[in-house]
Amino acid sequence: MLQKVRTLGSSSTRRSFLRTGLAAPGVIGTALIAERLPSAAFAASGLTSGDASILRFLSALEILETDLWQQYNELGGIQDQEVPGGSGNKPYTQALSKLDADMPQYIHDNTEDEFTHFNFINAYLVSKGAEPANLDRFRTLQGSTSTGAQNVKRLTNLMQLTVDTSWWTRYRSRTKNPDFGDTFPPAIPGLIQGKFPAIPRSDADLTPRTHLQAIANTAAFHFGTIEQGGTSLYPALAQRVSSVEVLRILLSIGPTEALHFQVWHDKAGNAPAVTDPTNGLVFPDLSKPPFAGNEDLQANRPNRPSS
Ligand SMILES: [Fe+2]
Ligand SMILES: [Fe+2]
Repeated sequence: MLQKVRTLGSSSTRRSFLRTGLAAPGVIGTALIAERLPSAAFAASGLTSGDASILRFLSALEILETDLWQQYNELGGIQDQEVPGGSGNKPYTQALSKLDADMPQYIHDNTEDEFTHFNFINAYLVSKGAEPANLDRFRTLQGSTSTGAQNVKRLTNLMQLTVDTSWWTRYRSRTKNPDFGDTFPPAIPGLIQGKFPAIPRSDADLTPRTHLQAIANTAAFHFGTIEQGGTSLYPALAQRVSSVEVLRILLSIGPTEALHFQVWHDKAGNAPAVTDPTNGLVFPDLSKPPFAGNEDLQANRPNRPSS
């Protein structure tokens, strides 16, 4: 830690922030008194400018992450008031469910998590008198027009994705280390060789069946690609914050990103073998060599039959 942080009164605990901070930003802002070191640059709020910047950076990333998940949830998640917005797309949801019957539930829950991440961080920044992150002026992209999608502008584009799936092999290797410069092959090489939809762009993408399955498979591998980011960013940035309270926030959110990553890493392994007839994108049979029998490649269910 760069400096000691002294808390005064019970209202400065994170638990009390959870009780009161979101409803009444500013309540705890004056209760946390940081002892300055000569080199520490403190904002008037009591947060160091570095801590505020790290939180704002993470909040911006969480807003982007939420924008991705919101689009997935509108079309492929459970539809309810916990995550409002879309109305669901049955053929796409069925294609996702080919990987696991729980896919719509996990998409919904992951999306709800992301809303809480940026809402919490932004509320904490406001409670400290610091600027929250807001990316609304960048919401300019046209989203899907397929049945179930909201007609609103987006921050991210899920319809022209190039997906790096090297996390598949990086997290399995026991002889290589990315910190020493080792590189790792992607699980799905085709996904880094073009631009592919991960959601139906319109109802024209709902057929043929193999095309829609390739879209759902692209989404399934993109889920892991999204979540690996938070899995590594939170531990990396936690080592750079100054305040114990900010550290607690990062150490609370970071593990949920790792949980997300592990869920999607497992489910992607159930992607049915398919070749998209519209663009030639190949999802190999993960139940056969070179996947099956290779500890660095095989899915958790290597004997699953292909579609
Ligand atoms: Fe998140
Ligand atoms: Fe996440």
